[in-house]
Amino acid sequence: MNISFADISLTKSGALAVLVTEAATPRGVAAEIDKKTDGALKRAMKAAGFTGKAESAIEILAPKGLGASRVLLVGVGKTGDLDKAVLEKAGGIIVGRLEKDKETAGAIVVEGISSARVTAADAAAHVALGAALRAYKFDKYKTAKGGNHKDAKKELKTVSIMSGGAAAARRAYAPLSKVAEGVCLARDLVNEPANILHPAEFAKRARALSKLGVKVEVLSEAQMRKLGMGALLGVGMGSEHESKLVVMRWEGGKANDKPVAFVGKGVCFDTGGISLKPPAGMEDMKGDMGGAACVTGLMHALAARKTKANVVGVIGLVENMPDGKAQRPGDIVTSMSGQTIEVINTDAEGRLVLADALWYTQNRFKPKFMIDLATLTGAIMVALGKEHAGLFSNDDKLSRQLGDAGMAEGEKVWRLPMGPAYDKLINSRFADMKNVGGRDAGSITAAQFLERFVNKVTWAHLDIAGTAMSSPQTPTNHSWGAGWGVRLLNRLVADNYEA
Ligand code: BES
Ligand code: MN
Ligand code: ZN
Repeated sequence: MNISFADISLTKSGALAVLVTEAATPRGVAAEIDKKTDGALKRAMKAAGFTGKAESAIEILAPKGLGASRVLLVGVGKTGDLDKAVLEKAGGIIVGRLEKDKETAGAIVVEGISSARVTAADAAAHVALGAALRAYKFDKYKTAKGGNHKDAKKELKTVSIMSGGAAAARRAYAPLSKVAEGVCLARDLVNEPANILHPAEFAKRARALSKLGVKVEVLSEAQMRKLGMGALLGVGMGSEHESKLVVMRWEGGKANDKPVAFVGKGVCFDTGGISLKPPAGMEDMKGDMGGAACVTGLMHALAARKTKANVVGVIGLVENMPDGKAQRPGDIVTSMSGQTIEVINTDAEGRLVLADALWYTQNRFKPKFMIDLATLTGAIMVALGKEHAGLFSNDDKLSRQLGDAGMAEGEKVWRLPMGPAYDKLINSRFADMKNVGGRDAGSITAAQFLERFVNKVTWAHLDIAGTAMSSPQTPTNHSWGAGWGVRLLNRLVADNYEA
């Protein structure tokens, strides 16, 4: 779907949507439409009891006196409560309705919508962002042969955002459109099935970021073996697909400025390995690379909007399969850090991948901080559902910054405790540690495991098992993989680490 910005005009055909704040009578464009249609708007508002409350909408079909096929009035609530999220939701709601109604073109009037917190240009830009995110589709595997093919002629092709200052709105939307691209890239990666998106294919897609100026390196198994990454390599032993480690670098800051680093779990499929998962719902484990997808989408967003910061993204790409060559419960592997790990459960594989990816990242880049994202534990969903990602950290300031960025972008995190009493639960009889702690506090013992590979660096771990996949359907997301985290981390960098 194409999004453009224009000045306000009521002469166009297609669908017309008008945002309205909560007010007694229609103003501006709404008043004009009411006049042109001989009072149809006011009558419809009254009949429906529509007052402009946020997330409410009414519709008038083919009104006499206008060229539009339909007029949608969409509420954004009281001016005093106006924020970016309300506007994004409105943009999403409009696209959702126009798609359902098989409209091919729509215009959205954003007039008289601003407050102390949101300028008029930002209002139009965030309506556009919501529209773009809602319009995302992953339908490449729906063919005409399957019979359920949708009619390409009836797709919503264009949405024009009409406002008083089209040029300012276009400028405000420019960086947001790059963030939307990053979110959609992350969604594509999460939605893609594992027969297509194996480690080499994922690495290929990460390599494509080089066209934005990202420096991309792909490490082979042989190179990782030389570095001593026995923990990561052990996970991929049962797979026909070679494991990869991808390093992405965006150098938008000063030459000597230390980078910030993001590390992602990229288990392209997680069968559990020899500790095989039960069949029900196993198909969801194509999304077990959600952390790596987020890091890749983030690097796209940061590079595309030419972020003034040095940023490193590292993703560990493996496939966890049962096989004659697969690692076994009881195996002991040696990580790049030199610490040994007894693999009690081959299904606790994400932490093994991250152990080496984290060690590598801090050793090579000496980052200001290191944040890892991983669909790490089912237990995080027991604790937090899909509302918050789990946050674990050795640093209060970074935790606060993540909390604030999450509130601002609607991608919330909730900090959980760590400490020596949890740490000792992963001591092993035979090695330096074991990869599972037992039944209690599963998400915390997983975080304690990761922390053993953090060497005096500011660090945070986001357990995104609940938020990365099988995502709630909202006005701005109708995708299985929401691309969670791209907006959060883009905001974290923009607000705290950009020159
Ligand atoms: N990828 C899973 C965690 C997961 C579960 C993500 C459900 C998304 C949805 C992870 O590798 C895993 O299997 N974790 C185990 C750990 C256990 C063996 C200690 C789990 O959560 O059961
Ligand atoms: Mn697993
Ligand atoms: Zn996993």
